[in-house]
Amino acid sequence: MYKYRYEVTASKLSGCVDISGSKNAVLPILAATLINKSVSYVDNCPSLSDLDVAIDILKTYGCAVEKTGKSIMVDATKATYVSVPKQLASKCRASLAFLGSSVARFGMAEFTLPGGCVLGPRPIDMHVDVMRLLGLEVMGLDRITVQGKVIDTNILLPYPSVGVTENIMMIAAANNCSVRIKNAAKEPEIVNLAVYLSALGADIKGAGTGTIVIKGHSLTPRNVRICVIPDRIEAATYLIAGAVSGSNVTVRKCLPGHMSKLLTLLYNMGCNIDVGKDYVRLVQGRLDKKLKPPLFIEAKPYPCFPTDMQPPTVAMLSVITSKKNPTVVTDTVFPGRFALCTELMKMGADIHMLKGGCMLEGLRFDAPVPSKELISHDLRAGAALIVASLCCDEGAVCHIYDNGFIERGYENISEKFSQIGGKVSLKLIQ
Ligand code: EPU
Repeated sequence: MYKYRYEVTASKLSGCVDISGSKNAVLPILAATLINKSVSYVDNCPSLSDLDVAIDILKTYGCAVEKTGKSIMVDATKATYVSVPKQLASKCRASLAFLGSSVARFGMAEFTLPGGCVLGPRPIDMHVDVMRLLGLEVMGLDRITVQGKVIDTNILLPYPSVGVTENIMMIAAANNCSVRIKNAAKEPEIVNLAVYLSALGADIKGAGTGTIVIKGHSLTPRNVRICVIPDRIEAATYLIAGAVSGSNVTVRKCLPGHMSKLLTLLYNMGCNIDVGKDYVRLVQGRLDKKLKPPLFIEAKPYPCFPTDMQPPTVAMLSVITSKKNPTVVTDTVFPGRFALCTELMKMGADIHMLKGGCMLEGLRFDAPVPSKELISHDLRAGAALIVASLCCDEGAVCHIYDNGFIERGYENISEKFSQIGGKVSLKLIQ
């Protein structure tokens, strides 16, 4: 049984959509507010179910949390050490960020395996390894405890993991130590967290590059305010929908510099794009000329093509490729993130699965009547199915069954698509 059903009628899009604050930036920032023995105001927060989980976790630590519009106030003055309950930790991957903030604030943490979208294996070995490199004692297998004194160290990450980089930054920032991270993640969300930690008085240099240097010290409590960056993945999803449905769509309140790989792709495919300081306007994606698909796309850590934009891009390519002009898409971050393809094939897409990727060859003309009953397997795959459904033959109706994945990462997706002419309606079916 599924919780929701999205009904999507293929429609032409036109208009403007405002982009919300970034899910992947706000979640570690909310976790980091635990470090500040005072009040933090986090502005431009999206309304997402993953944020509700982070707020519930903050409350279990005894933080006072208040939401006013897009602003969340966290008063962590009276926070006390707790072990995050398993049923909360298992609700989202970002609960792992509390490992970093709990060690930063209390010198210890206890956690269980986090939840989140199933994108293939998502181990936590690197998180555990860096705790040890920071001089902390790590015990347990199922329920892991971390405690001890942080030491000066240089850490070379075997992979530029976003979550691991964030945890090291939080722990090092609040302890008397000097820590250098090599091969650090460079995502804009890392920079946003560094801005917040710096507002707390932390000394962090190099965020956004492969080497981050943190000169930690105990942080004096202070009232701080931080603004969450716009969600580049949400912006990309609306742009991709606009491109493939041949529409005039403008995404506003975004940072185009955070989407340069996607904008280059759309431009090279033949889209007419106008890029401003905080907006991207797409002038007729597919109508006047057939888009030229690329030969190859590889999702890799930032600044390369992002894994989170991969599923909507695959949905777009499933329509505009052909046997003569196929595209191979691979994902080196989450090689198993291709569950979407099964659903696209049900819709009539000609897709060949590869190891860690797929080859898209457009639509099958010999397909039996394509199915319009689809399953959202994870957050980005669910949103990608909405994109694919919107650009079916005009008037076609698809039903996407979803277990709450989409609302984890897209604020008001049906309302936002409706604003730009997309007929998307959401029904609670359970
Ligand atoms: N990895 C390990 N061991 C670890 C940690 C990570 O092998 O201890 C692997 C992962 O399995 C994956 C790769 O390293 O293959 C990258 O994972 P990373 O740690 O960078 O990802 P994350 O911090 O768990 C964040 C986002 C994801 C986004 C990735 C990559 C949040 C809450 N999540 O996850 O967002 O895909 O970075 O950019 O920030 C999404 O929004 O749909 C989403 C999944």
